[in-house]
Amino acid sequence: MEFKKNILCIGAGYVGGPTMAVIALKCPEYRIEIVDINAERIRQWNSEDIPIFEPGLYEIVKKTRGKNLFFSTEIEKGIKEADIIFVSVNTPTKTFGEGAGMASDLQHWEKTAHEIIANSESDKIIVEKSTLPVRTAEAMERILKANSRDIKFEVVSNPEFLAEGSAVRDLLEPDRVLIGAHKTPEGQKAEQELVDLYAHWIPRDKIITTNLWSSELSKLVTNAFLAQRISSINAISALCEKTDADIAEISYAVGSDSRIGPKFLNASIGFGGSCFKKDILNLVYIAKSYGLAEVADYLEMVVKMNEYQKQRFVQRIVKEMFNTVAEKKIALFGFAFKANTGDSRESPAIYVTQKLLEERAYVSITDPKALKNAMQDLKGIDIKVTYEPDPYKAAEGANAIAILTEWEQYKTLDFQRIYRSMKKPAFIFDGRNILDHKKLYETGFNVYPIGKTPFTHFD
Ligand code: NAD
Ligand code: UGA
Repeated sequence: MEFKKNILCIGAGYVGGPTMAVIALKCPEYRIEIVDINAERIRQWNSEDIPIFEPGLYEIVKKTRGKNLFFSTEIEKGIKEADIIFVSVNTPTKTFGEGAGMASDLQHWEKTAHEIIANSESDKIIVEKSTLPVRTAEAMERILKANSRDIKFEVVSNPEFLAEGSAVRDLLEPDRVLIGAHKTPEGQKAEQELVDLYAHWIPRDKIITTNLWSSELSKLVTNAFLAQRISSINAISALCEKTDADIAEISYAVGSDSRIGPKFLNASIGFGGSCFKKDILNLVYIAKSYGLAEVADYLEMVVKMNEYQKQRFVQRIVKEMFNTVAEKKIALFGFAFKANTGDSRESPAIYVTQKLLEERAYVSITDPKALKNAMQDLKGIDIKVTYEPDPYKAAEGANAIAILTEWEQYKTLDFQRIYRSMKKPAFIFDGRNILDHKKLYETGFNVYPIGKTPFTHFD
C-alpha cells in the first residue's frame, strides 16, 4: 500500500509507544515507525508481551502492527525515510555537573538532533514530544541549521499530557492537544500538518495552537499545577490528623466549588511517577536561571511538601507500632506509583521500603504488575525483602499492612482471613484511603488512614 506520509518516532517508551499506536489506529494512511536504541524493548514491542502494561494498548498494537505501525532499531533508515519525526526520548533530571538534581538532562535529546542531521536527505518536520525546558526548540534549531546540506527542518512543540494507567483513553479522548509553532509561513505549514493529523479523531476546538515557547512551558506548568493540588491536599491531611477534621470530607467540600473542581484532590502518601518531581525541579531551575528566586522557592515547596508527606507516613508507622518496627514484618500492598501501571519510577513505595529497612523491619511486597520493577529498584538492599504476587501470602505473619497503591482489587480482599493470618495487634496504614476503615476496625485491626481519625483498640 502507498502511504500518504512517513512518520518516525524516536523513543519507544511510555509515551512513544502508546501515542504512535493510537495515531496508527486513527490514521491508516500514514506509515508509523517507532525506533529505539534499546533492542530488547523493540523485541518486546514486536512480541505478545509488550514492554508496558496499559489497559487497551495491546489490542491497538495487535490491530495496527505490521500494517501501518512498525517497531525497529533501524534509526538511520527511519530518519532517511521520514517526513515527520516525533522525538520522544527520555529527559530525566540531570545527575551531574551544572544544574545536577534539578535541570533536565538533554543528552538523549541532543544526540537525536545530531542523528537527524547525519541521516537526513530531505526536508522534515521535527516534533518535540518529550517534555523539555522552555526555549529548547531554539537549541534544536541551532543544531539542525548547522547542517552543511540545504535541508530544512521545522521544529514544532507537541507535548504529551497522557497519564499512565489511562494512556489509551487519554490519547483517544484528550482534554486538548497542544501544538506550538513559529508564526512564520514554514512554521504555520508544519503546524497545519500536525493539526490535520490529530483532526482525524480529535474535534478541532480541542486542538490548541500557540507559539512554540508557550507550548513548551504549558507542559511544565500543567504538571506543576497538578502536583501542587496534591501537595496542597496532603498538607491539609497533616492538619486533619491533629484536629479530627476528615480529609475526604474536605476534598469533597472544597472540590465542589466549581472554580476549584473535584479532581486531583485525593490525599495520599505523596505523588510519584517519572515526571512530576522532575518537571517541577526543571521549572525551579529555569526560574532560578532567569533570576526569579521567589518563583523558584514557591514552586520548590510543592516537591518539599511531597517529601514531607512520605516521611510523615513512615514516621507514623514506627510511632504507632510502639516506636519500633525492628524485626517486625510489614506487608506493603502496592509498589507501582499509581494503580493500573507496572511503573515504579519515583514511587513513594521505594522511599517507604528503604526507611522501613533502615528501621530493621522485614518487608514483604505485593503488587499485581510492578514486582519486577520493585526487584530492580531495591537491588542490593533487599536482603530482608520478599516479593509475593499473592496479597494473602504477603500478609501472613505480618504485624502491619501498608496500602501504597490504590489497586482496585485491594478493596475487595477478604480482610477477615488476612487478619486471622497476621500477628496481633494487627495494624493497617491506608496510604490511599481506599479501604472501609470502620469495618476493618470491627474485624480487629488498628486502622490509620491519611488525614482522618484513626480507629484503634488501644486506650
Ligand atoms: P522512557 O524512558 O519510557 O522512553 C524513552 C525511550 O527513548 C527509551 O526506550 C530509550 O531507550 C529511548 N532513547 C533514548 N535515547 C535514544 C536515542 N538517541 N535514539 C533512540 N531511542 C532513544 O520515557 P517516557 O516515559 O516515554 O518519556 C519520554 C518523554 O515524554 C519524557 O520527556 C517525559 O517527560 C515525557 N512524558 C512522559 C509521560 C509518561 O507518562 N511517562 C507523559 C508525558 C510526557
Ligand atoms: C502525570 C500527569 O497527570 C499527566 O498529564 C502527564 O502527562 C504526566 O504526568 C507526565 O508528564 O508524565 P502520571 O504521572 O502518569 O501523569 O499519573 P498521575 O495520575 O498524574 O499521578 C501522579 C501521582 O500523583 C501518582 O503517584 C498518583 O497516585 C498521585 N496522585 C494523583 C495523588 O496522590 N492524588 C491525586 O488526587 C492524584
